[in-house]
Amino acid sequence: MKEKEYLWWQKGIIYQVYPRSFMDSDGDGIGDLNGIISKLDYLKDLGIKGVWISPIFPSPMADFGYDVSDYTGIHTMFGTMQDFDLLTKEIHNRNMKLILDLVPNHSSNEHQWFRESRRSKDDPKRDWYIWKDPAPDGGPPNNWLSVFGGSAWEYDEQTGQYYYHAFLKEQPDLNWRNPEVQQAIFDAMRFWLKKGVDGFRVDVMWHMIKDEKLRDNPPNPDYNEKMNSYSRHISAYSTDQDEVHDIVRKMRKVVDEFDDRLLIGEIYLPISKLVRYYGEDNQGAHLPFNFQLLELPWEAKKIEAAINDYEGALPDEGWPNWVLGNHDKSRIATRVGKEQARIAAMLLLTLRGTPTIYYGDELGMEDVNIPENKIMDPQALNEPGVGKSRDPERTPMQWDDTRNAGFTTGEPWLPLMENYQELNVKEQWEKKGSMLHFQRRLINLRNGEPALHIGDHIPVYTENNLLSYMRKYKDRKYLMVLNLSDSQENFKPDFNWRGKVRIATQPEMEGEELGGELQVKGNLGLVIELD
Ligand code: GLC
Ligand code: MG
Repeated sequence: MKEKEYLWWQKGIIYQVYPRSFMDSDGDGIGDLNGIISKLDYLKDLGIKGVWISPIFPSPMADFGYDVSDYTGIHTMFGTMQDFDLLTKEIHNRNMKLILDLVPNHSSNEHQWFRESRRSKDDPKRDWYIWKDPAPDGGPPNNWLSVFGGSAWEYDEQTGQYYYHAFLKEQPDLNWRNPEVQQAIFDAMRFWLKKGVDGFRVDVMWHMIKDEKLRDNPPNPDYNEKMNSYSRHISAYSTDQDEVHDIVRKMRKVVDEFDDRLLIGEIYLPISKLVRYYGEDNQGAHLPFNFQLLELPWEAKKIEAAINDYEGALPDEGWPNWVLGNHDKSRIATRVGKEQARIAAMLLLTLRGTPTIYYGDELGMEDVNIPENKIMDPQALNEPGVGKSRDPERTPMQWDDTRNAGFTTGEPWLPLMENYQELNVKEQWEKKGSMLHFQRRLINLRNGEPALHIGDHIPVYTENNLLSYMRKYKDRKYLMVLNLSDSQENFKPDFNWRGKVRIATQPEMEGEELGGELQVKGNLGLVIELD
């Protein structure tokens, strides 16, 4: 029998660059493409395969680039198309892959398409967006709410109709039921694919089609006042409609016109709904992002159940993936604490499925407190008090101990963490026991070990705060024992084993031969190669 071949995005690790905050080359305080180019050796040496860059396209920046005003250009703030071509070439020279963000659900209100669409009711582009007459009382056409607060409908004086925006009013939703819209975005995808881009991470994929009849969303019984206003409803009719799967399949077809490209979907849904995005016969997204580790409480049994649910729900040949952080959620080191952030990294890098690392998490960067008068994020500004600010997890990357952590010679667009003198790449790279050194070794082990990057997942033993599982490929076997608390736990598996500790959160244990029952100290995580 021929050996099964695995693709780059199955074996390799993905790293998310938030371009505004990664590296600034021109002193304007905002990261840019030349900045990213100057740090590619770092990513290569770290062991990254796929570099995903959040939006770099022309945009008024109402939502920091997730409001695109030209799908085939580069924002001058980030650089030029030449810079982009160089970036692509330099990534490929290092045998890495480039993944772009695609934001097809909505454009900027300053996009030419929307300017035309809003001109008149019979403009040829009118139907490119979702326009509706007011309700009989003059109010919005239905009860749908914006994720960023308030009604999702904006009234437009000029033509006396409302348009729909799932996010900011500066982000009108495109009408994906219109074949012209589909073609326009598919052509934009081809533009980048022809340039050599290796794939896309598709923004809010599950939002792309809405109920044709625009029925009201039902109330959410679990809503309370502390939640943002969007949580008042269950988005039964405004998201995750059956027809979205036809669109995803079409996007996949576009990607498949080219060799070896990747389609990722950003999807916040429960597992049973999430896995549908793999599509029938896996002709949908290659990787519907699995965000369970962003949302679950840090409890061994819940995490174990989630892993097993996910493994069980995956379609045949559907490839798993795990995400521990992104530009929309509190950083892992803040959510679970510094010690447990190491356990979390060990989990991410030893689970079955493509891991995605959020920039800075490899250093243990934490959320940075941003004073109220400095908040930039529209999600927080729109709903003071309940809208979570995403600024804290978007602060500049910490490269060294010079001014602004080496990120910029100017004024950084968001403040840096105070601890950057110790917590930076230069300081930690070679330093044994540092978070970066620890993660670098985990990545290295994973990349070189088939049992860890393609092996099967086998649940082993989970009790109290202890999570353990095995990974196996042919005769190679690894046992992971992770204590998700700071108190001692007992590992009492019902099988015999012996092995050698390859990586431990307490480095003095590395090389030790272990077997049988273990007393596992608080915050201890072990990656054990079995005999
Ligand atoms: C996605 C992005 C988020 C953005 C939103 C609207 O969730 O990750 O940053 O605000 O879509 O485009
Ligand atoms: Mg700059």
